[in-house]
Amino acid sequence: MNTAPRKHVGWASRWTFILAATGSAVGLGNIWKFPYITGEYGGGAFVLVYLLCIAIIGLPVLIAEILLGRQGRSNPVDAMLGIARASDASRLWVIIGIMGAITGLLIMSFYSVVGGWILDYMAEAAKGSFSGQDAGSISAYFKNSLLPDQKLQFAWHSLFALITISVVAAGVVNGIGMAARILMPLLALLMLVLLAYSARYGAFAEAARFLFAADFSKLSGTAVLVAMGHAFFTLSLGMGAIMVYGSYMPDKASIAGTAITIAVLDTVIAMIAGLVIFPLVFAHGISPAAGPGLMFESLPLAFNDMPFSAVFATVFFVLVAIAALSSAISLLEPAVAWMDEHIDIGRPWATGIVGLLVWGGGVACIYVDQLFGWLDFLTTNILLPLGGLLMAIFVGWKMKRKLAKNQLAGLSYHQFNLWYAVLRVFTPIGILLVFAHSIGLL
Ligand code: TRP
Repeated sequence: MNTAPRKHVGWASRWTFILAATGSAVGLGNIWKFPYITGEYGGGAFVLVYLLCIAIIGLPVLIAEILLGRQGRSNPVDAMLGIARASDASRLWVIIGIMGAITGLLIMSFYSVVGGWILDYMAEAAKGSFSGQDAGSISAYFKNSLLPDQKLQFAWHSLFALITISVVAAGVVNGIGMAARILMPLLALLMLVLLAYSARYGAFAEAARFLFAADFSKLSGTAVLVAMGHAFFTLSLGMGAIMVYGSYMPDKASIAGTAITIAVLDTVIAMIAGLVIFPLVFAHGISPAAGPGLMFESLPLAFNDMPFSAVFATVFFVLVAIAALSSAISLLEPAVAWMDEHIDIGRPWATGIVGLLVWGGGVACIYVDQLFGWLDFLTTNILLPLGGLLMAIFVGWKMKRKLAKNQLAGLSYHQFNLWYAVLRVFTPIGILLVFAHSIGLL
């Protein structure tokens, strides 16, 4: 059996890596999930815990995961095998790569269904369906028209999956890299336009208070688990997506600097999304704890009083679709890279096979009751933190220190030691504490 990967390409530049990784990070997690979980868990205190999780757990693992990818220079399965061998560690560490590729497919299954909802909203907005409607009828559209209509969801999910598969099939440079370089600057620009709109027309002060004033009495143990799970989810950590993107990264680029850029961009965009959505939520009397429907029920309202409302609403949902797409492609890439480097059928066919699997998973999410929420919980709150925990332990305790040090050559002596200590001790303890709490031990 030939276990050596056959070929491995690279990004055009360091910036392509940053844009692609930010594209992976900035997604439905930022625009759809972050605002609604913040709403459900009471606002400011949750945001603070989430920021701590990004800094203490997210950033060190982000650095570790990029480093594993660039050191391994192949798909996550072979990368882990190669680095374990070079570090005289057990081959069983390959589990990080295998579990990651599978987790990506599980996430994509429900992610693509939400991607489909976005496409539907894009079409409805373009038809002008939301213009002039009040809050009640817009939320009724989501709950009473879209969600019960499985055929409609099936069609839109299929389209979203197909677009994602096409980009991945076109390759790392011409597909993923190209998409990132076009889509990400556009996304940033349009978010700022929306922020200005929300600041002008929404209940901005109330929203800012809700997001940034911490009331710890509202903070439950579950909220801490959710905040940590979300830190992994929003940075795309723990499943090899960032690892495989890192494997295409140029040798000379600084991993730590790049990681900080990605984490900051991702966090800033999540905050802006909150500052776009909550002012409108409050201005229109919607409960911030509306749950997963928050964005679908509140955002279309944003454009109602504006001139050319149909145009603006359409552009907004194009944007959310862009964010979702640039993340979805990274969910497929670990499995596709593995298959492409092992089976001689060419990248388009490899993508097609992986794509068929996740398409089926999405169909199951539409037709099987509860599956959607269950997959979301399993991946976000269990598999991603577990993957992150294993990566932290592997890089901190098993991988040769010299290898990590070489990959982080840009760091000073103290900077390296700080990162290393946090990754070895604080990150695993943090993850374990949250796990222990979630199964009732603490
Ligand atoms: N980070 C993306 C978001 O916030 C979702 C995502 C893409 C992801 N790739 C991932 C999550 C890999 C976990 C792992 O929407």
